[in-house]
Amino acid sequence: MSYFRLNLSVAAIAGLTLLMTPIASRAADGPSAERGYETYMRIGCFQCHGTVGQGPISGPRLAPNPLPVEAIRAYIRAPAEVMPPYVESVLSDAEVADIHAYLESIPEGPNVEDTILGD
Ligand code: HEC
Repeated sequence: MSYFRLNLSVAAIAGLTLLMTPIASRAADGPSAERGYETYMRIGCFQCHGTVGQGPISGPRLAPNPLPVEAIRAYIRAPAEVMPPYVESVLSDAEVADIHAYLESIPEGPNVEDTILGD
């Protein structure tokens, strides 16, 4: 097999692998807040923690200023009480990192003292 041919098949395998990898688990481009939002809504975190992590529906507030990604990952794999656990086959580490990026992107609300309510 010539060097050129070998190179081509390596490129083809790499291309195929990329095609077969679900978008959400591609780590090459790092965590994405946009994908995190989609996952957060699709998998249902919002039902208990609110669409912007504001809580408290039945789960506590998650944002702004979320826990570090390692803490969120550890928590959702083995929650303490009411919250259902999410195993890796349901929610990958990359998807958890996306969710963390989403929670981190949520801005702090205005200070009550700075609003008309504070007057
Ligand atoms: C059925 C409701 C429910 C769903 C769905 C849910 N949670 Fe929770 N979550 C809770 C409750 C209730 C707690 C408080 C502790 C407990 O009961 O486990 C909690 C606690 C947490 C905590 C710990 C917060 C802290 O400050 O200690 C994190 C992080 C968290 N949830 C993230 C998530 C993420 C991310 C998702 C989606 C993958 C999710 N939760 C889905 C109900 C839920």
